[in-house]
Amino acid sequence: MTDYRPMLQLPEAAGYKAGDVLVLAGELFGRGYANGLVDEAKRIGMTVIGMTVGRRDSDGSLRPLNAEELAAAEANLGGSIINVPLEAGFDMESVDGQPSIVEQLKKAKPDEWSSIKLDAGFIDKARTAGTARFRAALQQIAQQLETIIPANVNILISHTMAGGIPRARVFMPLLNRVFKGTGDKYLASSDFWSSDLGKLCDVSFNEVSADTFRYLIEETASLRERNTAAGARVNYSAYGYHGTEVLMGGKFLWQSYTPYVQGWAKIRLEDIAKEASEKGITAAVFNCPEILTNSSALFLGVEISLYPLLSVIRATIGDAAEPLFDRCRALLKEGETLERMLERADAYLTSPVVAEMLDYASWPHHNTRDQAELMLAASAELMGMHADQKQLVCAELSRVVFRSTGKLIVHGSWNPPAPAVWLTHGIVARLQADKLGEGIL
Ligand SMILES: NC(=O)c1ccc[n+]([C@@H]2O[C@H](COP(=O)([O-])OP(=O)(O)OC[C@H]3O[C@@H](n4cnc5c(N)ncnc54)[C@H](O)[C@@H]3O)[C@@H](O)[C@H]2O)c1
Repeated sequence: MTDYRPMLQLPEAAGYKAGDVLVLAGELFGRGYANGLVDEAKRIGMTVIGMTVGRRDSDGSLRPLNAEELAAAEANLGGSIINVPLEAGFDMESVDGQPSIVEQLKKAKPDEWSSIKLDAGFIDKARTAGTARFRAALQQIAQQLETIIPANVNILISHTMAGGIPRARVFMPLLNRVFKGTGDKYLASSDFWSSDLGKLCDVSFNEVSADTFRYLIEETASLRERNTAAGARVNYSAYGYHGTEVLMGGKFLWQSYTPYVQGWAKIRLEDIAKEASEKGITAAVFNCPEILTNSSALFLGVEISLYPLLSVIRATIGDAAEPLFDRCRALLKEGETLERMLERADAYLTSPVVAEMLDYASWPHHNTRDQAELMLAASAELMGMHADQKQLVCAELSRVVFRSTGKLIVHGSWNPPAPAVWLTHGIVARLQADKLGEGIL
């Protein structure tokens, strides 16, 4: 288990200069974490080169972006994209003439989830085939990078991908029960996780969210060696999640969203950074706070721990936080206050029902019915305090967090304090008082 290691000092300005390159290993979509990274890299004059996950045609085949999609993706990124489909995972791999996992599960019914059996031998073969396809795509990408990027420039290669929910229809209703179910709909995450479907998710999350970082480091070895031999730096970063320290009950304490069953893959990601660092490669996983993104929408309640960021920012920068408070206040329903909102979030975070889940060493934790119901009720009540449920205080705070972490990662990647570092609410707030944080709020 990785030691908990919050970033305590703001990083010094990194040595990246105009013409250096940010390589984004993961497609950029709106409102995701990677937007903050891209913004900071551009601000300091770096060139941004992106990748794409590719698209699946209706017959299931994976293809590069077409001209229209590529133009839209490059406009969104503000940089060129290497148009080789870099989709991780193995759910659609058919091997030795046997149908893919998605095909095999086509007729599976959600209410039969606990008795569905999968052949572990086939899963292993599909995973091997998926890895080979992914690595082959990475090799092509790395060759193109060697042609495009000069040998004497510094490079930051940033891993942003996380996912791996198999695309068979049976999964979404089940995962909705695991993450959002109450009453009869509640499904214990530990029961799901010990089923064959849960075991498949485990292998798939490891492959997509963790092992891709290893493949990325390995397949860019030649680029790395060439540029480091020329005196430039080649650094790697990845986005992790391993709980966050937030203000609860007036104290800074580590807590986590539960049930984060992707957590085992995130621990594996930290191990990959540790191994690379031991070999002298500059690689760090930056564990980030909970925010609202396309990917986190499934984890209803994940946003509760984001509210107290408001208190921390005010405690750190005082009246300079007022414009942020005003923007957040404007999103509330008439009669509601931010103070009530913060109290409501705090009541969940400090509840005795979640107290046993505040143990870092035994993370990630499975849900309990009481905890799930309390969390989802708190989440719904907090949402209900808004005038418009599509304009949320947490969306405002998410922007602050992804912009802040973008700066902390770009600069922190130059000389990372450890292979796994936590970016807490405390350091995000302190950044707002520093020159580097100008323009975030
Ligand atoms: N949202 C949060 O609360 C939170 C907290 C801490 C860390 N993170 C991490 O931040 C990173 C970015 O996530 P985000 O929340 O900004 O969401 P996002 O949806 O913007 O990013 C997810 C990325 O993963 C890629 N991806 C998903 N499945 C893939 C696959 N099979 N093959 C290749 N690429 C795939 C997507 O293309 C996208 O680039 C992830 O590693 C995530 O775990 C998120």
